[in-house]
Amino acid sequence: MFFNYGTEAPFMHFGIVDKADNLTQYIDVPLPGPRLPHDMAFTENYAILGDAPLFWMPEALAAGKHVPHYYPDMPMRIAVVPRHGETKDIVWFEAESTYVLHWVNAYEVGSEIVVEGFFQTNPEPPKGNGTFYEQMFRYLDNNLTGPRLHRWRLDLNSGNCKEERLTETTSEFGMINQAHAGLEHRYSYAATAVPGWFLFNGIVKHDSLTGEETRFNLPDGVYASETAVAPKTGSTSEDDAYLVTITSDVRNDLSECLVFDAKNLADGPIARVKLPERVSSGTHATWARGSQIPNWLNDDGLDAALGRIPSHSA
Ligand SMILES: [Fe+2]
Repeated sequence: MFFNYGTEAPFMHFGIVDKADNLTQYIDVPLPGPRLPHDMAFTENYAILGDAPLFWMPEALAAGKHVPHYYPDMPMRIAVVPRHGETKDIVWFEAESTYVLHWVNAYEVGSEIVVEGFFQTNPEPPKGNGTFYEQMFRYLDNNLTGPRLHRWRLDLNSGNCKEERLTETTSEFGMINQAHAGLEHRYSYAATAVPGWFLFNGIVKHDSLTGEETRFNLPDGVYASETAVAPKTGSTSEDDAYLVTITSDVRNDLSECLVFDAKNLADGPIARVKLPERVSSGTHATWARGSQIPNWLNDDGLDAALGRIPSHSA
């Protein structure tokens, strides 16, 4: 599943590519104008897309300038798109104004679509001083934009949207056990950020059932990326899993892959693997079993490892 967006009507599309790389679905998702969506979610039967009121100023855009601006009087809009439906089947919901950079998951409960993601409490940080790029960078400072884990309940029968903030903790880059993707989940794992920077200094585990949170904080100068969840072999529960992240230690110029027990995040890593080179922090991440990547031992390139092009290795 994917979406695209641009500056020409209808401004967004939704599509599906099947396992054989065939485009099997591609429909218009008409928006009121050019928007800046970043992420989507899905349930068993629906795709979830967003139309947030933070977008390029139309008057500046008409002059060829791309100036993002937040319109707090406009609602956050969320689209429920039947995965195999048509444009006319799209249902839009209006919610409290915000910008959502990343969704965490979505699932169906009766007539409701439940969506979790990060509600920015201040989508447009103060411009302050500094260069244009310094001003733009403030949009990536989580301690200015204040993203909080949030739940939207979209009722397809009534058309109503109910929402609740799940925590006062500022975090982003939320990940779940992907065996629950599109299905109800209990635990999410997100990154906490260093004020003023796009750097992640810890991991917070949120329990949606109890509201309980547990944390692990990295040492000063060590920053994480998104944390992937790897279910243990023979996993018997949602958090019977390992958490995997890659760190960037800027003081010692090295990177490590850290592995945590998802049930005992606060205890710290149970394994660490030094990487041959330091890699950037703040990247998205995922995890897959070796059995899902048939040539992973022989090929560094993704396409060859997945068997999409002939292997170059001996
Ligand atoms: Fe992203």
